[in-house]
Amino acid sequence: MYKTHTHCRACDSTDLIPVFDLGLQPLANSFKLISEEQDGYAPLLVLFCQKCTLAQLSVTVRPDLLYSYYRYVTSTSQTMRQHFDWLSALLQSEKGSILEIGSNDGLFLDYLKDIGFRVVGCDPAANLCNIASKRGHICVPAVFNSQSSMKCLEASHGERFDAIAARHVFCHVDDWMDFFRGLGAVSHRETLICIEVPYVADMMDRLEFDSIYHEHTSYLTINAMRVLLNRTPFHLHRVIRSDIHGGSLVILIRHNDSIHPRCSIDIKENITRQQWELFDDQCRAKIQRLRRMVHDLIVEGKTITGYGASAKCTVWCNACKFTQKELKFVTDTTGYKQGRKVPGTDIPIVDEIEFSEERPDFAVMFAWNYQQEIMAKESKFLGNGGKFIVPIGEIWVKG
Ligand code: TMP
Repeated sequence: MYKTHTHCRACDSTDLIPVFDLGLQPLANSFKLISEEQDGYAPLLVLFCQKCTLAQLSVTVRPDLLYSYYRYVTSTSQTMRQHFDWLSALLQSEKGSILEIGSNDGLFLDYLKDIGFRVVGCDPAANLCNIASKRGHICVPAVFNSQSSMKCLEASHGERFDAIAARHVFCHVDDWMDFFRGLGAVSHRETLICIEVPYVADMMDRLEFDSIYHEHTSYLTINAMRVLLNRTPFHLHRVIRSDIHGGSLVILIRHNDSIHPRCSIDIKENITRQQWELFDDQCRAKIQRLRRMVHDLIVEGKTITGYGASAKCTVWCNACKFTQKELKFVTDTTGYKQGRKVPGTDIPIVDEIEFSEERPDFAVMFAWNYQQEIMAKESKFLGNGGKFIVPIGEIWVKG
C-alpha cells in the first residue's frame, strides 16, 4: 500500500534523520461507514534532510488509495472565497489559457474563467472531475505527471498554457522531477507557474502537527524549492506568504529563458534539526494537554463534541486516542462525510442540525483554519454558554 523513501525528494541526499513520529496511522480522509472496518494504516514518520532542509514522510501511500474517490471538496467558506479572489487577481495579468493541477470540484476554475481565462482542470479523483464537468469545465481525470501532461495538452487542442496553478497539490506529489517534466511539456517560455503549498515554518511556529498526514508527503522550505529547481529548467520568480490553511507559500516559477526579471525573495528562513526536535517536544506536550483537558471535562460531567471532520481532526483524534466516550460526535457540513466516522475511531460524523440540537458544553474546533468564520456562524451556540476549544498554537478556550 506504500513505498519507503531513502533519498531526499528535492536534492537526492540520503542524509535523512527521523524528527517526528506518530506511529501507524489511518489515512486521514478515509471516511468509512459506522459499520465498516477501517483499513489502511501506514507509518506517519517525518524525515528531515540535513542537506537542503526539506522534510518528507518516510513512506508514500499509493495515490489510487488516497485519491481515486476523494472526499475532500474545496471549501466554499468565506475565507476560501476571499483567498480565491486574491489569487485569481494575482494571476489575471497572464491572460489566455490556464491549467489547474488538482482542480478538485472546479470551484477555483470558476474564478479563473470569470476573469477571462480559458481553463482546463486535471485531477485524479473521477468523482470530483465529474462535478467540475457539470460546472462546464474540461477536466482531465489523472494524477498530473509527464504522461498525463499529454492529455492536458490534448484538452487545450495542443496549445501550451499561459499560466499553470497548482494549489495545495505539490506536497502530495511523489516524483517531483517527473512533475517538472510534465510542467515543461505543457508550458511555453513565458508561462507563469503558481504553486501554493503549506509553509513548514508556519506549521512549526504554530505547532500545527495536525497538518502532517499521508497525503502531505513533503513539508517544503523555500531553500529546498530553490535546490530542486536547480535540477530543472525553471527558477523561483517570486514568493508570497499567505494565511490560508494555517500559513502557506504562493511560489511563482518561470522558465530560465523567460524575459521576465527575477524578483528578490526577502523571506528569511532558518529550519534546522534542532527546531524539529523542539517541535516534536512541544507537539507531544500539546497532545497530552488536550487529552487531559477533555478527560477532566468528562469527569466534571460536560458534553464534548468535535467541530469540522477535517484531515486535521483525524490526526488529532488518533494522536489523543479519542473515542466516542470523549467526543460524542464531530459535526461537519460536508454531505459526503456525514453518517461516516472519523478514520481510526468510532466517532460518528453528523450534520449541523444535530450539533445545534445537542448543545454540547464544549466543541473542539478541528477546522481551526476557519476560526473567525465559525465563531461568527455559531453565535447561538456561544450565546447559550457553549465554548470552543481551539487547538492552534496553544490550546485556547473561547466563548
Ligand atoms: P479543511 O480544513 O481541510 O478545509 O476542512 C475543514 C472541514 O470543516 C471540512 O470538512 C468542512 C468543515 N467545516 C464545517 O463543518 N463547518 C464550517 O463552518 C467550516 C468553515 C468548515
